Amino acid sequence: MSKLAKFPEGFLWGGAVAANQLEGNFQADGKGLSTADVSPNGIMSPPDYSMKDFNLYHEGIDFYNTYKEDIALFAEMGFKAFRFSIAWTRIFPNGDELHPNEKGITFYENVIDELLKHDIEPVITISHYEMPLHLVREYGGWKNRKLVEFYERYAKTLFERYHEKVKYWMTFNEINVLLHAPFTGGGLLFEDGKKNEQDIYQAAHHQFLGSALAVKVGHEINPDLQIGCMIASMITYPYTSKPEDMFAATQQDRKTLFFSDVQSRGYYPSYMKNYWIENDIEIEIEDGDLEILREHTVDYIGFSYYMSFVASTDPEHLKQQASGNLLAGIKNPYLKASEWGWQIDPVGLRTVCNQLYDRYEKPLFIVENGLGAVDVIEEDGTIQDDYRIDYLRAHIAEMKKAIGDGVDLIGYTSWGPIDLVSASTAELKKRYGFIYVDRDSEGKGSNKRLKKKSFDWYKNVIGSNGEKL
Ligand code: BG6
Repeated sequence: MSKLAKFPEGFLWGGAVAANQLEGNFQADGKGLSTADVSPNGIMSPPDYSMKDFNLYHEGIDFYNTYKEDIALFAEMGFKAFRFSIAWTRIFPNGDELHPNEKGITFYENVIDELLKHDIEPVITISHYEMPLHLVREYGGWKNRKLVEFYERYAKTLFERYHEKVKYWMTFNEINVLLHAPFTGGGLLFEDGKKNEQDIYQAAHHQFLGSALAVKVGHEINPDLQIGCMIASMITYPYTSKPEDMFAATQQDRKTLFFSDVQSRGYYPSYMKNYWIENDIEIEIEDGDLEILREHTVDYIGFSYYMSFVASTDPEHLKQQASGNLLAGIKNPYLKASEWGWQIDPVGLRTVCNQLYDRYEKPLFIVENGLGAVDVIEEDGTIQDDYRIDYLRAHIAEMKKAIGDGVDLIGYTSWGPIDLVSASTAELKKRYGFIYVDRDSEGKGSNKRLKKKSFDWYKNVIGSNGEKL
């Protein structure tokens, strides 16, 4: 390995979670209904307003009440950072109020204080895969420009209240989810059920504006804040060296990079402007919008990485489907997959780091990565999750190489350091944690926390600043 492949001092090791996947207590202390609260089949599935079905998100793992003991466990592993999201509906239950719900503000202030007590840097995602349901029903979600104003007020409230305690922020989780799951990303519903790109790209414009205005107001309140974007990285390989396959891969990558291009470079790239013309998509852009995008770009690039993708122009290859949460792709014959069919590709992480750093030359923050797997409690009470250790070890080794390549990487928060409800399938059978939660997909169990084998392994990784993998 290169002699320069070393994690820098102060590297932000930790874990990442999202409010709707672990807090539970979905109506406590004045919280309003969010889109996740009506998604019993997973927050990437169509909503079910009946509220009759059992919904695991309503209970989560009860983090709302257990955050102190859970954070103590993170501290025991030596976490330097903890990424979590704020449920918009705890702060503004309907989303369009003028004044926030103080009980919601206090809850997150308590979480932040608990982290700081343990010297853990809070990293906040302002919007992670959920929004007030009222904004969907009353306004039609993000295709409505009013959402920009509501989001800006929400973000400003958070910056005003927490800016002295929280330096790292992200405006939207996996903002590119909008293209693949428009309800999850933007509260968009379509009458005939068919995706309508006009609405999707209009909603994207509004989210870009909301994000840029959040960067603006955040920096006005405190110039030291680091406010980033967050994309689901989806690097695509050509299936063969056929030039047409390479171009198909380039086109597929653009669907992802478009989002970080706008948020980081501050303007609409020509490939997308042409795509809109070709497809009769007309985005309403008001005077001053483009200046806002240009002047308030993000400070760093946050991204998740779980797998890589393959593009091909050969119909035979297109038949070989793999799985994923946002996008299913073609099977890559060189890769193994997780139990859920996600293709495992550690080297892809090194490539993504290089690709993003070459393109933006801004610090990178890997804010999600991990293996969803079924864990078994042995007779002696232990959980031998060597498969998880293998996955994480291989990915961390590659990101270390990326640092050797010259990439400015500031942190790594693995996904779901404590088991939580999955986003795509609303289950607890699929686990990501170093900490096991005794609760199943039917919501049964004691909710007790148990350390898996990976708990001590990750503790050692952090303790040695990535030298002992
Ligand atoms: C990411 C999301 O895409 O993938 C998380 O930001 C999600 O919210 C994670 O949980 C893993 O996906 P899943 O479906 O296994 O929970």
